[in-house]
Amino acid sequence: EISACLVGSEMCIRDRKYICHVLLNLNQHPMDFKLTEEHLMIRDAARDFAKNELLPGVIERDEKQEFPTEQVKKMGELGFLGMMVSPEYGGGGMDTVSYVLAMEEISKIDASCSVIVSVNNSLVCWGLETYGNEEQKKKYLTKLATGESIGAFCLSEPEAGSDATSQRTTAIDKGDHYILNGTKNWITNGNSADYYLVIAQTDREKKHKGINAFIVEKGMEGFEVGPKEQKLGIRGSDTHTLNFNDVKVPKENRIGEDGFGFKFAMKTLSGGRIGIAAQALGIASGAYELARDYSKIRKAFGTEICNHQAIAFKLADMHTQISAARHLVMKAAWDKDQGNNYDMSGAMAKLYASQVAMDTTVEAVQVHGGNGYVKEYHVERLMRDAKITQIYEGTSEIQKIVISRGLLKD
Ligand code: CAA
Repeated sequence: EISACLVGSEMCIRDRKYICHVLLNLNQHPMDFKLTEEHLMIRDAARDFAKNELLPGVIERDEKQEFPTEQVKKMGELGFLGMMVSPEYGGGGMDTVSYVLAMEEISKIDASCSVIVSVNNSLVCWGLETYGNEEQKKKYLTKLATGESIGAFCLSEPEAGSDATSQRTTAIDKGDHYILNGTKNWITNGNSADYYLVIAQTDREKKHKGINAFIVEKGMEGFEVGPKEQKLGIRGSDTHTLNFNDVKVPKENRIGEDGFGFKFAMKTLSGGRIGIAAQALGIASGAYELARDYSKIRKAFGTEICNHQAIAFKLADMHTQISAARHLVMKAAWDKDQGNNYDMSGAMAKLYASQVAMDTTVEAVQVHGGNGYVKEYHVERLMRDAKITQIYEGTSEIQKIVISRGLLKD
């Protein structure tokens, strides 16, 4: 119909384009920026929960490095720990857009809680649901999706951080089981988890193709939770070293085919990075809102400081950068929901949103002046929390490797 309408006409290219646009889009909105009612409802539920349940005590938990046990229990009950998992396994069956909306709201108030949400949803539940077998899903995923159990993702080692293929932890094949030996570092939910997805080298000759992923249960003989890290930020989440000394892991706990472990880790991390990008976005928007509100009540030189251009321009810059970051985060989430490749869009979202989180939180402290440097105003904590978003689930430099390789591969 469109061709028939255009054939032989003397129309200029702009008019042809317009007619195509009208005919093709009568019933479609290919660039629709509107969130659905369901998305708005989830965002508002997360916002209310964060204000009512996470804000009280957030300063004290940060100061004491106290794990938010009660808050995590409530997040599990409300469905925040298995948002994208199919209802068949106890999850919410929601899309990635819903997940990043909730991540942003939780991160505005308490980034220690949001990293727990992110690791459990993106790295553990998603990895198990996508690559685990039916028995593994029934046994582990159903508990992880409801928050009855918590999960951890164990890839990093003392000598294998960014260089993730250099795994030193070994998993020796003994027929019906594997024997695990080695050390994992900087593990989120290190002590609070019940189940651990552990990446280990089975056949060094095969390099990354000889790596496997296993489900390890807390309490398995030879598995020890080591010391808790004393951290700059996200101090409510527990980060530990883990030691594996001849841990016997049944073969049925291996995820996927023999040698699938590295791809499992990479694919899982690609989605994880969208969650961390949303966390960075939330930290930035939380700091911006505090700075904006403070600037409307704090007076200097006879007027509220928002009336000084020095402050108003800071707010304008923050808001612009946060909006740009939000578009990248939403695009990556949308790519994942549409079944598009999201390696690059997730990496771009994380790279940019984490930089915006750093820049915005530093400026939010500046807007608060001396008050920004003390705990009760929250922005100094957000500034400390922001830094990790440039480091975990792939440093900013690793995101640039992923992006540039994606650009140059064809
Ligand atoms: N999806 C599927 N496969 C992938 C992939 C992806 N996104 N990325 C890489 N691969 C595959 C490659 O295709 C290749 O397989 P083939 O040989 O079969 O083609 C294999 O993996 C090795 O890839 P590379 O040759 O690209 O490997 P590399 O050594 O150059 O490293 C890297 C690639 C991107 C730098 C990777 O090592 C990396 O992502 N490093 C960062 C690790 C990281 O993010 N750690 C975070 C720790 S977890 C954490 O922080 C959680 C927490 O607690 C909060």
